[in-house]
Amino acid sequence: MTERDYLWWQTGIVYQVYPRSYQDANGDGVGDLEGIESRLDYLKWLGLDAVWVSPCFKSPMKDFGYDVADYRDIDPLFGTMADLDSLLEATHARGMKLILDYVPNHTSDQHPWFVESRSSRDNPKRDWYIWKDARPDGSPPNNWLANFGGIGWEWDEHTQQFYYHAFLVEQPDLNWRNPEVQTAMIDVLRFWLDKGVDGFRVDVMNHLIKDAEFRDNPLNPRWKPGDHPYRRLVPTYSADRPEVHDIVAKMRTLFNEYDERVIIGEIYLPIDRLVAYYGQHNNEAHLPFNFQLISRHWDARVIAAAIDKYEAALPSGAWPNWVLGNHDRSRVATRIGRSQACVAAMLLLSLRGTPTMYQGDELGMEDVAIPAGKVQDPPGLTIGEGRDPERTPMQWDTSPNAGFTKAAEPWLPVDEDYAKVNVEVEREDPASVLNLYKALIELRRSELALTIGHYRPVPAEGDILTYIRDHEGQRIFAALNFGGQPQTITLDAEHYGSIALSTSLDRKGEKVAGQLQLRADEGVLVRLD
Ligand code: GLC
Repeated sequence: MTERDYLWWQTGIVYQVYPRSYQDANGDGVGDLEGIESRLDYLKWLGLDAVWVSPCFKSPMKDFGYDVADYRDIDPLFGTMADLDSLLEATHARGMKLILDYVPNHTSDQHPWFVESRSSRDNPKRDWYIWKDARPDGSPPNNWLANFGGIGWEWDEHTQQFYYHAFLVEQPDLNWRNPEVQTAMIDVLRFWLDKGVDGFRVDVMNHLIKDAEFRDNPLNPRWKPGDHPYRRLVPTYSADRPEVHDIVAKMRTLFNEYDERVIIGEIYLPIDRLVAYYGQHNNEAHLPFNFQLISRHWDARVIAAAIDKYEAALPSGAWPNWVLGNHDRSRVATRIGRSQACVAAMLLLSLRGTPTMYQGDELGMEDVAIPAGKVQDPPGLTIGEGRDPERTPMQWDTSPNAGFTKAAEPWLPVDEDYAKVNVEVEREDPASVLNLYKALIELRRSELALTIGHYRPVPAEGDILTYIRDHEGQRIFAALNFGGQPQTITLDAEHYGSIALSTSLDRKGEKVAGQLQLRADEGVLVRLD
């Protein structure tokens, strides 16, 4: 097998752009499509294959674009359809792919479908959303909660029924059991695929279908006061229902009409439930996002076990993937510290399967504490679980606002560390996080063992994680130190070779035989003899 036997989304690296915070071209303090286009050369330089842009569609922005009011138009804040066409063309001209974000579980309450649906009980679109009577005592139909706090049901005074919203009140859930909804929403995908978009990341894919009987969710015995209020219940009946797989398979059938387009599913589930989204016959998502590097405790033994479990659980023919960060979770450099974030980068880019990285992580950007008056994210305001800290503007250079905007004030504050942590400065620093990412990406690209090779765990103890990637005799040995103490590894003779890359970027070519010394927080990739 050669690289040509694989598809771009298998051999490639995906980079997530959160459009509000990437680059502001029109000076309003919010990023836009023209801004993203102006930075494509940077992404190309870094060596990426695909850019996934979080929602840029028409939206009242209650959830910053994850509340869509028109799936077929661009929000003026981000630009125009012409800007999107231009971004698509410019991405393709550089040999890269463009992935958009599809939000099928819910619309904005301003979407014309919902405006109609709530207008009267006999409106033809009434059943496009999830409407239920109150219980005899006037209380909501069941105990389901909203992910951003509070209950999942909103009373509509005008038509005297509740509607269900898994997220904000302004994000009513579509009724995917209705065939008209299915047709309309599949048509949305067709519209963009016909335009030449290379794929979609599908928002909360496992939420689309709810229990037909709307049974109460069970209490979560592990929940304690102070935990996220949504976790008080186990979402047994409101998400991950068996029938959701038919819907995802329908999406896949459409994708199969086109060449090499990719469906990525945003799914936070335990591994055995997650891999079901590949489909029983590999007929669902190409890549159900694997968030274990985000969710698991950063410990060599925990991560080693998670990798093994995931590799073992993958159905035959399924292609793995790994995600290190996104716009919903604390940044990796904050979660585990900047030094370990470099080890995590090496892990992400040397594991088997498509890596997805989040903008700014390649610089070592950290979460930014948002002053009380500047909090934007609704769950930040209501339940103190805001996602603003990981969404602050990308840091490009040392100019005001890190080169993100010419406006006096960006929509979220720029991190104070921007004079040091930015693209311009890090490009010139041979030991920067950015240059580590660039070297890792180059190595992954040039070594077939890393791009498409097998994964074989090598037993290790304590803070050390070791494994081999191999492809037709070419072998790379990875040794990662998850701890803050230097470590010595005694090598089997079959693991002698020379260092291809260290997270410190200074040991290239060093011969390793007998013993391998790892510094504190260091990872190395060794090309075996
Ligand atoms: C997904 C998105 C998140 C959004 C939510 C509701 O989890 O990643 O940002 O708020 O769905 O659409």
